[in-house]
Amino acid sequence: PRASAKAAPAPPSIARLRAAARTCKACPLWQPATQTVFGEGPENARIMLIGESPGNQEDLAGHPFVGPASELLDRALAEAGVDRAQVYVTNVVKHFKYQLRGKRRLHARANAAEQAACRFWLDAELLRVQPARIVCLGAMAAQAIFGRSFRLLKQRGTWRDLPGGARGLATVHPSYLLRLRDAAERAEAYAAFVRDLRQLQE
Ligand code: URA
Repeated sequence: PRASAKAAPAPPSIARLRAAARTCKACPLWQPATQTVFGEGPENARIMLIGESPGNQEDLAGHPFVGPASELLDRALAEAGVDRAQVYVTNVVKHFKYQLRGKRRLHARANAAEQAACRFWLDAELLRVQPARIVCLGAMAAQAIFGRSFRLLKQRGTWRDLPGGARGLATVHPSYLLRLRDAAERAEAYAAFVRDLRQLQE
């Protein structure tokens, strides 16, 4: 019998999406990267965290947010009373982009075309997980969710309604905090980061 056209098919599971994304060649970043780094976490998570793109360690491990920025992120989440195990964690771009400096692979920012090519996967994750709360870490994620006119430093830290009933909030990227050299400035920026994340508690 023919499949009924009445019921919309359930969105593909995260496991199926991850398997399909393994061979993604929608942009050139797949070639130098070790592997696709797909999102991870409970499929029914209330909260989705969206970062920028995998770094060196994420590329090698195949998991999002396992490098230096992640320690800081995990600590801030814990201080904000959010259990990372309950959160779905992903990135706008699923392949590590880098420039070789000697033997070192230095993180490079994915361009607009690369972000657009990868958008399919983020949309599929959002459709499947349907998080009630979306936290954008950094300007790339914030602009992916709220639009190109979003200005992180002016508009961070307040909930915004999104189509479909979810609410989203943008804050700084944890890597930005790591780059701050002045200790007092870093402490202040970290405290503001935790304050933003604490809004996930209500
Ligand atoms: N690790 C990730 O997975 N994403 C980032 O945006 C930064 C570090």
